[in-house]
Amino acid sequence: MTAKNGIGIGLLGMGTVGRGVYRILNDNKGDIEQKIGAPIVIKKILVRDVSKDRGLEINSNLLTTNVSDILSDPEIDIVVEVIGGINSALEYALEALEKGKSVVTANKDMIALHGKELFEAAKAGKRDLFFEASVAGGIPIIRPLKECLAANRVTQLIGIINGTTNYMLTRMNEEGLGFAQALEEAQSLGYAEADPSADVEGYDAARKLAILASIAFNTRVSLDQVYVEGVTQVTAEDITHAANLNYVIKLLGIARDSRNGIEVRVHPALLPKTHPLASVKDVFNAIFVTGDAVGDVMFYGRGAGELPTASAVAADVMKAARNLLHTCTGMIGCTCFADKTVKSMGLTSTKYYIRLGVADKPGVLASIAYVFGKNDVSLASVVQHSSGEAAELILITHEVLEKNLQEALKGIKELPVVNEISNVIRVEEH
Ligand code: NAP
Ligand code: HSE
Repeated sequence: MTAKNGIGIGLLGMGTVGRGVYRILNDNKGDIEQKIGAPIVIKKILVRDVSKDRGLEINSNLLTTNVSDILSDPEIDIVVEVIGGINSALEYALEALEKGKSVVTANKDMIALHGKELFEAAKAGKRDLFFEASVAGGIPIIRPLKECLAANRVTQLIGIINGTTNYMLTRMNEEGLGFAQALEEAQSLGYAEADPSADVEGYDAARKLAILASIAFNTRVSLDQVYVEGVTQVTAEDITHAANLNYVIKLLGIARDSRNGIEVRVHPALLPKTHPLASVKDVFNAIFVTGDAVGDVMFYGRGAGELPTASAVAADVMKAARNLLHTCTGMIGCTCFADKTVKSMGLTSTKYYIRLGVADKPGVLASIAYVFGKNDVSLASVVQHSSGEAAELILITHEVLEKNLQEALKGIKELPVVNEISNVIRVEEH
């Protein structure tokens, strides 16, 4: 590679994101060259099927099904991994780093599960490993945390980091749709996959939160340390009750550093309508970060899609290219220098929304309040809707320890006057 010949890149994958990267690097070629001081040249593109129609004109000589055409080409300086999945992606990314190439990836699964070994390979080869698009697509958040906010001690990060579920919850909130109907709509619009479990069960958000928390708190947070609850139990009734109490329900990724341990959890939560994240609607993502020096900052935008995601990938390519041109690759590697303990969920404390189906007769409220009180759970508000012999109780607790709340719920379930615990959802007011 020389500045004169440009920076050679190899694209692994030409699907949604790969196509976007190809488009941006071609459409904005002139400006990109001016900004980094050399042209970026796509030398080869790995795909599974070279004959597939990709909806844009590509010189067919660029396409290959042989990864060695990229990994063994000394004129390729940067490998862009956008094939997704783990096995091949990891093998190729590690080999690229071992061969002295910088790697850019959009792959949250690979980074969340194998970040450590990838960083070690990047360090050994003194090359860059950039992954801005792996969390919240086009929103800049990884580099802002690693660089712009680096002087802060980040105390908390709360994100809406899954667009599919945010779309569904928005539709449930604004149009009164049920969960199944909202999911069907998200699938018909191409937001949710045919198998939507990664989104609706919260796993997609958990991978993104593991990456964000590791960077924000400078400690490695593995995926199995993230508490995960999806949105499948959220009903139209809960959304209506929440709205009447001035809340919206969102799937949140919450990471908090409280000195005696960190909390890392993904779950639906009631959020006050006045919270900045409450106005994040449809497929949009946002991350609300609190630093000890900067205070609150919020990052908002499109968390997925061809061009927004490719915007982040292409910017990483430019950064890696600049570093190569200025021979300063590998400057910002792994920042997990601390070893912080992740608190067990039982030791976290928050407010709760509890919806109970109960008998409508004297003494019911008193017996329920007694069980909560016995377990140190203090109630902040109680709303009752009666319908003849049965009633629905909507309770909001004060901030209580999760383990106390769980004990109380066991006792409540045993009460003969309680027909069912219809739902329990955390309330996030920070
Ligand atoms: P995609 O549309 O399924 O494209 C994958 C591409 O990789 C295809 O071109 C496919 O080739 C190629 N490919 C897959 N496995 C391969 C293999 N073993 N060998 C050679 N080529 C292979 O995926 P995508 O939506 O672009 O996502 C790519 C990555 O970006 C994933 O890690 C994803 O999580 C991440 N990401 C995506 C979005 C988004 O909005 N889509 C947002 C943020 C992050 P063929 O075309 O020949 O089949
Ligand atoms: N499935 C993800 C979402 C996009 O709905 O936000 C890719 O990370």
